[in-house]
Amino acid sequence: MALSNIRLEVMNTVEKSVQGFIDKYLIPVDDIWQPTDMLPNLQSEEGFEEVHQIREEAKELGYDFWVVLVADMVTEEALPTYESWLMDMEGVEQHGKQRGEQNAWAKWVRHWTGEENRHGDTLNKYLYLSGRVDMKEIEKTTQHLINDGFDIGTGRDPYRNFVYTSFQELATNISHKRVGQLAKKKGNKMLGKMCNIIAGDEMRHYMAYREFVKTIFEHDPSEMMLAYVDMMKKKIVMPAQFIRESGQGIAEAFENFSNAAQRLGVYTTYDYIDILKKLNTYWEIDKMRSLTDEAEKARDYLMALPDRMTRIADRIAIPQDQHKFKWVEANGMV
Ligand SMILES: [Fe+2]
Ligand SMILES: [Fe+2]
Repeated sequence: MALSNIRLEVMNTVEKSVQGFIDKYLIPVDDIWQPTDMLPNLQSEEGFEEVHQIREEAKELGYDFWVVLVADMVTEEALPTYESWLMDMEGVEQHGKQRGEQNAWAKWVRHWTGEENRHGDTLNKYLYLSGRVDMKEIEKTTQHLINDGFDIGTGRDPYRNFVYTSFQELATNISHKRVGQLAKKKGNKMLGKMCNIIAGDEMRHYMAYREFVKTIFEHDPSEMMLAYVDMMKKKIVMPAQFIRESGQGIAEAFENFSNAAQRLGVYTTYDYIDILKKLNTYWEIDKMRSLTDEAEKARDYLMALPDRMTRIADRIAIPQDQHKFKWVEANGMV
């Protein structure tokens, strides 16, 4: 489905501000942290001591914790899917008009990807050093997830995609932050710091994407509102929606992973509702005027949605039975 001219016009207009967004919300390569800043330096003797420390501290962490950390890492490692999806949005032009020239949206996607790539890298190295997980099984899961792709219900529409990324960046901020807090509470200092600094990146990304949407609301309020309501009616699916273990069918591991995250309180339905409320507030949809009748109705629906979802969530119990994953040895099952 091709986009209306107005959408493309809006994308072209906002493109002029994208360099400013890059400067404001992303950090240049030489100034930003790198995975090795968070991990033992194996060029030094002390590095091996630190590996030993990681392995000792890791013994304190429970079964659900490892499952969630593995799935979070795998989600980050499926980054090729996300980059290619965003690069394919209408209004993003991967090929510059002249050789060497970059369309500002494509530049954003590349620079955002460059930052994101450090997350999976960091967590992967940590998991490998921890000695608590079956790396080969995890690697198979990652390869499957990249093979399986995802379908987040946005199509090539930038409006819907920016709703999705606004939502998802805050969701990852919350989950990395909570995992970090749990790790710290159990005395895993290095892991705590790692997750916390990753969460900080996700916060900047969230602030950028919600700003893109806010800017689009200024140019094209009714269409932006309809894109927002459409995404919320479909529900925001997780980027790892299709996650599986070796030998399983597509998506078969997702529910058990999600239940583990809910049991730990790392990411729950209430967080989902909270994100929705935050977006409603930041975009000031209650104050929006000059909407079409349809967009007006969409706004009313979105305003009422958090309460409606809370009433439903209150009635749903989180399954307590732990699934045994191939990723994590079962003798630590608590
Ligand atoms: Fe990330
Ligand atoms: Fe992010």
